[in-house]
Amino acid sequence: MNLAGKSAIVTGAGSGIGESVAVRFAEKGASVACVDVDGDAVASTARMIEKTGGTALAVRADVATDDGNRSMVDQTVTNFGGLDIIHLNAAVQFLALLENTPETEWDRMHATNMRGVYLGIRHALPHLRQRGGGSIIVTASVLGIVGDPDLPAYGAMKGGLRALVRAVATAHGPENIRCNAICPGDVDTPMGAEFFDHQPNPAAARKEVTDRYPLRRFATPRDIANVAVFLASDDASYLTGIDVVVDGGLLARVY
Ligand SMILES: NC(=O)c1ccc[n+]([C@@H]2O[C@H](COP(=O)([O-])OP(=O)(O)OC[C@H]3O[C@@H](n4cnc5c(N)ncnc54)[C@H](O)[C@@H]3O)[C@@H](O)[C@H]2O)c1
Repeated sequence: MNLAGKSAIVTGAGSGIGESVAVRFAEKGASVACVDVDGDAVASTARMIEKTGGTALAVRADVATDDGNRSMVDQTVTNFGGLDIIHLNAAVQFLALLENTPETEWDRMHATNMRGVYLGIRHALPHLRQRGGGSIIVTASVLGIVGDPDLPAYGAMKGGLRALVRAVATAHGPENIRCNAICPGDVDTPMGAEFFDHQPNPAAARKEVTDRYPLRRFATPRDIANVAVFLASDDASYLTGIDVVVDGGLLARVY
């Protein structure tokens, strides 16, 4: 799983899964544009990569905007001479039942989680095409496959991303542009912790959920990043239009 000579963008690279994906891409030889709305966080990820001899570019951009997406792609192509891999990973969540989810929160989530992915792919496509192909990776979720009462908007958008991935894969397969989704279960990140922090007894809630996993643990960001490296690499040359469910066996279990 070698990414030597490849140019990559990772959004949400200032924290959690995105940070780990950026680091792993660089370890495998890619030049990585680390993109996040949090400029300090993404500068720290880029420094981490550079300290170990990798090539990184810190880009402060809001992926909820067209300008943010245009800027991250332009900066990457200017600095690295092209684009081969884009991992659209940034997202936000709002924990509430549907009837308690204000329209403003629905729209805020949509702007980053759904529209941001559409815009990122749109800006990346001409550059992937110019390189004779590439890999688009989208972080969806198991909540785009099964329901969570407290994350209706988040789940709707993650499900929508799975459909978007299929549309892009079918449209751009003839150009050797692959597009796949990763669907994680619980991952130990700040976003993953938020749900448990909202529970009356966070430790007990965490244990109860952990016990539902056949592997009896949540994923580390690196568990997810390793799958992203595979999907980005030429070793996944015949994989497109799929969901890779990385959930420690969670969805394999009904009772
Ligand atoms: N943590 C989990 O349990 C879990 C499970 C399934 C899927 N996911 C998905 O994995 C992805 C990464 O989540 P994480 O757990 O690492 O979250 P995280 O909160 O640790 O990191 C998300 C990063 O995205 C950035 N971001 C948010 N909005 C942005 C915007 N508009 N523009 C640019 N950057 C923005 C944040 O600043 C943050 O650095 C998300 O798509 C999330 O939905 C997470």
